[in-house]
Amino acid sequence: MIEVENLVKRFGSIVAVNGISFRVNDGEIYGLLGPNGSGKSTTMKILSGILTPTSGRVLVGGVDVSRDPLRVKEITGYVPETPVLYESLTPAEFFNFVGSVRRIPEEKLQERVETLVKAFGIEKYLGEMIGSLSFGTRQKVSLISAMLHDPEVLILDESMNGLDPRSARILRELLMDFREEGKSIVFSTHVLALAETICDRIGVIYNGEIIAEGTVKQLKELAQEESLEDVFLKLTESQEEVATIVQALRETL
Ligand SMILES: Nc1ncnc2c1ncn2[C@@H]1O[C@H](COP(=O)(O)OP(=O)(O)OP(=O)(O)O)[C@@H](O)[C@H]1O
Ligand SMILES: [Mg+2]
Repeated sequence: MIEVENLVKRFGSIVAVNGISFRVNDGEIYGLLGPNGSGKSTTMKILSGILTPTSGRVLVGGVDVSRDPLRVKEITGYVPETPVLYESLTPAEFFNFVGSVRRIPEEKLQERVETLVKAFGIEKYLGEMIGSLSFGTRQKVSLISAMLHDPEVLILDESMNGLDPRSARILRELLMDFREEGKSIVFSTHVLALAETICDRIGVIYNGEIIAEGTVKQLKELAQEESLEDVFLKLTESQEEVATIVQALRETL
């Protein structure tokens, strides 16, 4: 379970997150949707114990991120929007490294590596240098490394990016299984159709604030729109702006 209360994060004079509150229950996939720069990644880094909040209270699995960020890192799996990997290691070496840092018993580690590597179909890259891998394969390495310790909370920042349809389907099925197991998952994406199929509830974040929250059905009712894209554009005040820009483009180009 994740509980966020009045979370604020400032970088100097920039207010990246401006007093947001939300909750992700056990066995729930919570989507964070919002325009570029709205504060999604900042929020997710705080939930993973990587950034400390300026103020507010964040509990992850009952642990306060400000008091015990190390424990939060132990119980979460975080996949950043840009994978942080060691270019000169191979995926096999990197998984062993993650396993030793996280003190995963050898047998369990090998078993999970084997299962996840097979699921994402990257067996043939296990011995290649990470620096030489394609964008999508690196993303798979990043995803696998976040799941090795069987975390109770998963934070996925635009993690479907670069995945081919087969792997995207595998990830989706994995997330459904994790939900069944009672894990809490936070998932950000700009692909609204994806959010619609995966997320139990969605928080729309805009200028560091959650401006609407609910199931896709509730959001559609709230905005009185039929597609999630129109809901999103309306809530983020972009609907008329987009129409004006498109009109201007048509006249100019
Ligand atoms: N380390 C940092 N130092 C200064 N400002 C930052 C830092 N990290 C984020 N910001 C600022 O905080 C705001 C929110 O950024 P964030 O990365 O959380 O947005 P986002 O919603 O994830 O956007 P995107 O959809 O583009 O990934 C932006 O204005 C960004 O420039
Ligand atoms: Mg981001």
